[in-house]
Amino acid sequence: MAEQIQARRTFGIISHPDAGKTTLTEKLLLFGGAIQIAGAVKSNKIKKTTTSDFMEIERQRGISVATSVMAFEYRDILINLLDTPGHQDFAEDTFRTLTAVDSAVVVIDVAKGVETQTEKLVEVCRMRDTPMMVFINKLDREGKDAFDLLDEVEGKLKLKVTPLSWPIGMGSRFQGVYNLYEQKLNLFKPHHKQGEDETIIIDDIKSKELEKHIGESAAKELRDELETVTTVYPKFDVKKYLDGSISPVFFGSAVNNFGVKELLDCFVEISPQPMPRMTEERVVVPEEKKFTGFVFKIHANIDPRHRDRIAFVRVVSGVFERNKSYHLVRQDKNLKFSNPYSFMAAKKEVVDEAYPGDIVGLYDSGNFKIGDTITEGEDLHFKGIPSFSPEQFRYILNTNPLKTKQLNKGIEQLMDEGVAQLFIKEDSGRKIIGTVGALQFEVIQYRLEHEYGASCSYEPLPLHKALWFKCDDTAALNEFIQRRKKDIAQDKDGKYVLLAESPWTLRMVQESHPKIEFRYKSEE
Ligand code: G4P
Repeated sequence: MAEQIQARRTFGIISHPDAGKTTLTEKLLLFGGAIQIAGAVKSNKIKKTTTSDFMEIERQRGISVATSVMAFEYRDILINLLDTPGHQDFAEDTFRTLTAVDSAVVVIDVAKGVETQTEKLVEVCRMRDTPMMVFINKLDREGKDAFDLLDEVEGKLKLKVTPLSWPIGMGSRFQGVYNLYEQKLNLFKPHHKQGEDETIIIDDIKSKELEKHIGESAAKELRDELETVTTVYPKFDVKKYLDGSISPVFFGSAVNNFGVKELLDCFVEISPQPMPRMTEERVVVPEEKKFTGFVFKIHANIDPRHRDRIAFVRVVSGVFERNKSYHLVRQDKNLKFSNPYSFMAAKKEVVDEAYPGDIVGLYDSGNFKIGDTITEGEDLHFKGIPSFSPEQFRYILNTNPLKTKQLNKGIEQLMDEGVAQLFIKEDSGRKIIGTVGALQFEVIQYRLEHEYGASCSYEPLPLHKALWFKCDDTAALNEFIQRRKKDIAQDKDGKYVLLAESPWTLRMVQESHPKIEFRYKSEE
C-alpha cells in the first residue's frame, strides 16, 4: 500500500486558453508513452467557439471524457493528469477538478504574461495551499523580459517564485536555458523530436565552456542575470514548495518540446504524493486501510438513449475494489460497481482496484451529486468542494405546465452534475439559475428539452453576485433575513445567499449589517 501511494502523483495543468496547456499535455503524454503521436489530445480539445456553437461544445465534451483523466507512467511513477477545461464558461468544472489534485503546473505565455483565467485558477489552488510549479512557455517567440515576468507572477498571482531554469535570449535569439536545479546548460533546437534535450553539464558558471556554446555576449549576460537571480530569489526549498509557499519556475517551449523533460524530471522528484484530505469529521490519510473517496465531477452521457452518467471519484484512502459494496453517505445507501473505469493511456479500462491518488469513473444512474463522499460505512463528509458565486443569473420559467415534474427532475439532476447553480427566492419561491458563462443557459435549455422532455425559458435578472453569509448572533441573522427577504435565496443545500444587485448595494448591506460575514463561496 505504502509503495503504491509513493508511486503516484495526481496533478492538473492550469492556464489561460492558448498559453499552451494542450501542447504541454501532449508532450508529457509522449514522454510517458501514453500516446504515440502528437495531435491525439489536441483533436479532443474544446475549440474556441462562439456561444451559438454550444452543441459542438457538448459533442466535444462527450469525446473529452477520455481525456478528463490521463494517466501515464514516467520513471516508475504513475502520474494522473486531470484535465482542466480552459474555456471560461466551464470554469466551475475546473475549480472542482482542482480539488482532486495534489499539485498543479501553471503555464504562462511569455508574451502575454499573466492572464485573467490563470489568476482565477491560481487563486483556487492557493486557497488549498496546493503546491504549484510554473512553466513559462513559447520562449521561441519574442516576449516579456524574464525578470519583469516573474515580478508579474509574484504581483498578480501572489506566488513567491524561485527560478530553477533561466532563459538565454528569446525569440530568434533564443539559445536555450540554464538549468539551475541540475547545473546544466540545455541548448535549444527548434522542433527537435522526443528524447533527450542536448544538455551540457557546466558546474561552474564561470567556466569558459559557456562561451564556447552560447557566445561571448550571451555568456556575459547569462552570468550577470544569474547573479541577480541568486541574490533576488530565495534558494529553492522543497519543503516550502510542498506547503505551497514557493513555486519553482521553468522556461521552455512546449511546441518545440524544449524544457518539457526537465520540468517532468523535476516534477517526479519533488511533487507531492497523494495527500491527506479534510472531512467535516476528521482528517483522512491515504494509508488508511478502508476506502474513502469523493465525487468531483459528473459527466452526463450526451446520447439521450443512454441516460447514465459517469461520476469521477478521487480515491483518498484505502483500496477501491470492483464489485465491493460501498456506502454513499449523503443518501445512506450501499452501492456496488461492476464496471469501474480507470483512465490509463487516455482510454477507459475496467479496473479491479484503485489506490489513493487514482481517479475511478463510476457509472451512475442518478445517485451521485458533486461533492459526495463514498466510504466503507463511516459517515464522513469531504470538505473543499465549494460552490463559487455565479457571474450570470436568470429566472427559469416553465413553458409547458404539463411537464412540470420532468422540468423539476431535469433541473435537479443538471444541478447535481454541477452544470449551473440553482437558487430559490425566499419571498416568492421563484427559481434562479446562476452560471459562470452564458453558454450554460443554452446547454440547460437544450438538455431539459432533449433529455427530460421539458421546456423552459428565461427572464433576465441583472445581479452582481450571490454571496453566502453567516453570523454567530442568531438574532441578528434572523433579523437580517427578515429585513432583506426580497434579496435572499437558498442554494441547493438550503444555505442562504444574498443576491447583490451591484457592488454598491453589497457595500450598503455590509455597512448596515456589520455582524454578518459575507463570502463569495459556499464553504470557508
Ligand atoms: P491551450 O491548450 O492552453 O489553449 O493552448 P494550446 O496548447 O492549444 O496552444 C495554443 C497555441 O500556441 C497553438 O497554436 C500552439 O501550437 C501554440 N504553442 C504552444 N506552445 C508553443 C510554443 O512553445 N511556441 C510557440 N511559438 N507556439 C506554441 P495554434 O496556432 O492555436 O494551433 P496549431 O494549429 O499550431 O496547433
